[in-house]
Amino acid sequence: MGNEPKLLIAGNWKMNGFAQNLDQVEAVVNGLAQKPAANRDVLLCPPITLLAQASSLSQNSVLQIGAQNCHIAQSGAHTGDIGSDMLKDAGATYIIVGHSERRADHHETDGVVNAKAQSTLSSGITPIICVGETKTERQSGVALTVVEHQLDGSVPTLEEGQEIVIAYEPVWAIGTGLVPSVDDIKNMHAAIREWLIKKFGESGNSVRILYGGSLKPSNAKEILAIPHVNGGLIGGASLKAEDFLGIIYAG
Ligand code: PGA
Repeated sequence: MGNEPKLLIAGNWKMNGFAQNLDQVEAVVNGLAQKPAANRDVLLCPPITLLAQASSLSQNSVLQIGAQNCHIAQSGAHTGDIGSDMLKDAGATYIIVGHSERRADHHETDGVVNAKAQSTLSSGITPIICVGETKTERQSGVALTVVEHQLDGSVPTLEEGQEIVIAYEPVWAIGTGLVPSVDDIKNMHAAIREWLIKKFGESGNSVRILYGGSLKPSNAKEILAIPHVNGGLIGGASLKAEDFLGIIYAG
């Protein structure tokens, strides 16, 4: 694991937060200014309504701002949708694509997720491509197969210099307080690393693989120390700066 990439600690506010909650973004900015996060990148993905404001609040900070979704196209007759060029223009440096909540709520297929990842890359920013099995799939012993199948369909081929991030988020661990065993996370991340090397060769080693699902300050140290865990995607615990900073400084 000597060449493992720098950790990425990414918060996903989902459909939460009003203008008044931007004080939490400011608190993260101030926290990071007072105590730099050694050896890790930090990202927060607020709802789209707060993206531009969050981005200006973090202008002189190491804190980066991202989006939670994008449309496949960059512009046109798609009422209510937003393209990755527009998100970049508003300050996004990453876009989460294929989160399980979008796969479920909006019937996003691997093909759609792949197209969103490609449009994000075409904007010159980094997609965080989410995969993960359901409880039933875990219980019936097909978690690895399911995730590999999702990777096959959702991860695009890359051109020189393009970067992606993978987020492994078991659906049953999201927002439930349930977390897979250290061994289960270890096996899944090792399998994803192997898949990445098969697809991208040596450079598959530099793709960050995040773990997501009920990460919190109290379990972050243990989870972030697992081989091939290169950071976290954090929902609930990213809403309060104090908890999010607790994860950022864990380990
Ligand atoms: P959670 O969500 O941390 O609230 O479990 C994680 C996610 O869905 O990214």
